[in-house]
Amino acid sequence: MEEKQYSSWKIIKRLLSYYSKKKHLLLFSCTLIFLSTITEISSPIILSNFINNILKNRIVKIESIIFLTIYFITLQLLSSLFNYLYSIYFSKISTDIVQELRIKMVEIALKQPMKIFDQKPISSIVTKITSDTESIKEFYEVIVSSFIKSFILFSIILTTMFILEWRMALISSIIVPIIIIIITTHQYYSKPIIKKIKYSLSKLNNTISEIINGIAIIQQFNQEKNFIKKIKIINNINYSNNMKMLKIDGLLLRPLLNLISSIILSVIILIIKLFPTEIIKISILHTFINYLRYLNEPIVVIANQQSLLQQAIVSSERIFRFIDSPIQIYGKYTDPLKSGKIKLHNICFSYPNTKKTILKNININIPDKSCIALVGKTGSGKTTLSNLILGHYPTTSGILYIDDKPINSLSNETLRKNISIVQQDPTILYDNLIKNVSLNRNITREKVIQALHQSQLKELIDTLPNGYMSILGQGGNNLSQGQKQLIGIARILVSNPKILIFDEATASIDSESEQKIQKILSSIRKKSTVIIIAHRLSTIIDSDLIIVLDHGKIVEKGNHNQLLQKKGLYHTMYTYQNNNNSL
Ligand SMILES: Nc1ncnc2c1ncn2[C@@H]1O[C@H](COP(=O)(O)OP(=O)(O)O)[C@@H](O)[C@H]1O
Ligand SMILES: [Mg+2]
Repeated sequence: MEEKQYSSWKIIKRLLSYYSKKKHLLLFSCTLIFLSTITEISSPIILSNFINNILKNRIVKIESIIFLTIYFITLQLLSSLFNYLYSIYFSKISTDIVQELRIKMVEIALKQPMKIFDQKPISSIVTKITSDTESIKEFYEVIVSSFIKSFILFSIILTTMFILEWRMALISSIIVPIIIIIITTHQYYSKPIIKKIKYSLSKLNNTISEIINGIAIIQQFNQEKNFIKKIKIINNINYSNNMKMLKIDGLLLRPLLNLISSIILSVIILIIKLFPTEIIKISILHTFINYLRYLNEPIVVIANQQSLLQQAIVSSERIFRFIDSPIQIYGKYTDPLKSGKIKLHNICFSYPNTKKTILKNININIPDKSCIALVGKTGSGKTTLSNLILGHYPTTSGILYIDDKPINSLSNETLRKNISIVQQDPTILYDNLIKNVSLNRNITREKVIQALHQSQLKELIDTLPNGYMSILGQGGNNLSQGQKQLIGIARILVSNPKILIFDEATASIDSESEQKIQKILSSIRKKSTVIIIAHRLSTIIDSDLIIVLDHGKIVEKGNHNQLLQKKGLYHTMYTYQNNNNSL
């Protein structure tokens, strides 16, 4: 599959396109920036007029000092007010955009095809939604706003300079190409270092989370020192890169710009010497000295934000890749299914982006309300087959019918309501027992309690401090594997699915829980089609049909007695297990 290219420029354009819904607010904020800039830079002009007056009249009037003071204070206050307002509005716009982005990402995460989790850890999606969006927020809140501010400041200053004294302005504008050269040089040297800093930082994060997650193993194998050493090394790399960056900023940026401003100033003064003094007033010279400093400022700000911008681009690329990733496409059929009939017709299957054919020419007819067992060695394709019946992956070739309808015509809703699976390790939420079973579905409390009883959980409920309302630990820490399994079954019993799959549901539980599950199974079999994937063959002896898979092919088919008589793979597996059990 070809990877989509995301250039930095395209990413920035796409980020800016999110402003389209907020045009008016953005325009209003820009006006505020404009006002704040005007108020900020008018002080030097007023001051230079004041100097002019003193020079002309050679007296300092007390009124004009009072006037000047009031004027200054008012300007400062106004400037701060506009500054405050525009930061608030920019913040509001960026929070809105990021909020919208986050909701969209959660929606997309919920629609991800299961295959996404084959290649990426779930935590990578969590990072995208939480921290990557945060650095995008910085883009809108800090980078865009200061870019606009810098642009406005730069234009106003340059225009004012030309209005005041065009010859001096012309000389001063030499600074523009020089600044561009300095910035480009700065970028040239800083970009690789910024990249290195980002890389070492993410490596540091990964190592730390690896350590926290694996704390038990690290302690058990006495690896504390090695991990500390690893962290120290990464830390040192990070430190030296940061120092390099500081040096580049410290040497290249501000001192160089200041130096150039001074040179330009000297040239201006030299010109004053050459021309008659009345042409250029001292007051204007004062304004220019001030403005040259202002002219540097936006550039320094923008250059300093390079690393923020790089980070935002990297984060955005991750987010856009995620948003653009294909979501599972389902059919339109939304009615409930009439039966749990399944037909697999010449099914072949390979996992996306892999070459190996996992299932080869599978043909099975499963009548409604029958009980089927899938057996075979580890890796023979049993779970894969159940994934196809659940609709988690589309088949590579062949057609899978559920209730006589091709599975790709069924909506996600119909699939989920009618086909359920009991996994080996059901996720237990940090919530009470009732909520853990109802999972926010529209199910009455009575029905949940009935399902809990049906799932043989009465004993557990009696031992819990608050009965049904007891909070279960994170991930079900305070439950046994068998109890978790039974809760998983209760979740399914409340919704009466037409098809039920047990994937090694009894593989890692105690024999008491297993017996309970067998009991529940015999009652479910009367109402639903049941598919059991089991390692222990003793649990599937009375299935209507047993299918033996080997390397993705059906090698045997029939009921227990028929398969034993065949003396094939099933017979070998069964006698092997029987002998081992009786040892
Ligand atoms: N998500 C996946 N992506 C690629 N290959 C997979 C994936 N899941 C399983 N496989 C491969 O498919 C084969 C069958 O696996 P599986 O259906 O889990 O076997 P079983 O459940 O019978 O033990 C194995 O070779 C396994 O490596
Ligand atoms: Mg499996």
